Amino acid sequence: NGALGEVWNEEMSSSMLGKRLRKVVQNYQAMNKYGVHYPGPESAAHRSKLSGPELLCQIKKMVQIATLTPDMEPFSGFPWASQLPPRQITTDIGPFKTCAVVSSAGSLKNSGLGKEIDAHDAVIRFNAAPTTGFEKDVGSKTTVRLINSQVMASEDHHFLSSSLYSAGILVSWDPGPYSSDLREWFNKTDYPIFKQYQRYRRLHPQQPFYILHPRMEWQLWQRIQDNMVETIQKNPPSSGLLGTVLMMSLCDVVHVYEFLPSRRKTELCHYYQRFSDAACTLGAYHPLLYEKNLVKRMNKGSDHDIYTHGKVTLPGFMTFNC
Ligand code: C5P
Repeated sequence: NGALGEVWNEEMSSSMLGKRLRKVVQNYQAMNKYGVHYPGPESAAHRSKLSGPELLCQIKKMVQIATLTPDMEPFSGFPWASQLPPRQITTDIGPFKTCAVVSSAGSLKNSGLGKEIDAHDAVIRFNAAPTTGFEKDVGSKTTVRLINSQVMASEDHHFLSSSLYSAGILVSWDPGPYSSDLREWFNKTDYPIFKQYQRYRRLHPQQPFYILHPRMEWQLWQRIQDNMVETIQKNPPSSGLLGTVLMMSLCDVVHVYEFLPSRRKTELCHYYQRFSDAACTLGAYHPLLYEKNLVKRMNKGSDHDIYTHGKVTLPGFMTFNC
């Protein structure tokens, strides 16, 4: 692999980070904003490491992809519950043959991957990632856009009026408490996701718009922690990993672009902004470093694909039995 250059090492640990970022990660590792209680890595350290296929089976079995529906408590008691889609997203859309997950990483810049990305049956993008003006590198098709509640709430994203959010199916998420009690979450969201959801639905009633059940975040978080030797940040996984697992439940095969950085790896945070920070790729708040270790272990594609295209290949949950 020498001539190829380095690709993501699945044994990445916080000790390999620069001093400043290591400190930030350690601070987050010591915080516990969401009341996470989990046996932690002591138990994991003594078990033998799971193979990629075993890991895929674990995630398939233990992570339930669900969206909020009007019959769920406490929402069923609210008049606006009728704005929620009556069925699960997994019932309403797909199955797709091949899907692309487009991370927002700076390394997509000058990648020329747009045509390849658009050739997929479905494409998921994240948060404020635009296509206009970046088609050559990221394509123009948007089937699903996964957005966090911060983007929905922050003044500078103009979520309610920007045309950026009008293409495709919207799916939003907000970090819930570890207990995954919907009532508790409703009273204590990180950002006003429900207020913004209701406003957006009134302005754009025709666009499909789902809200992820927060239980999924923590089920996925447990799979990450359970398979790492280190204690990871007690914060939910990044939008990128949530979207990847969502697409694994909708597609036969999922190609993830520039989540594991290619030879174009850069400290540029997003392909669409001039801001640079290694934390965007390596994680600070999110356990992103460990998410990437997990994805590297599950990858069915080659290191060469990672090196040249930043591309990982994951099988859809419907295509394998455990
Ligand atoms: O920054 P944002 O969350 O909008 O980016 C979407 C996703 O792309 C992230 O949640 C993360 O999974 C991935 N990403 C990355 N490296 C970057 C920027 C984003 O892996 N430099």
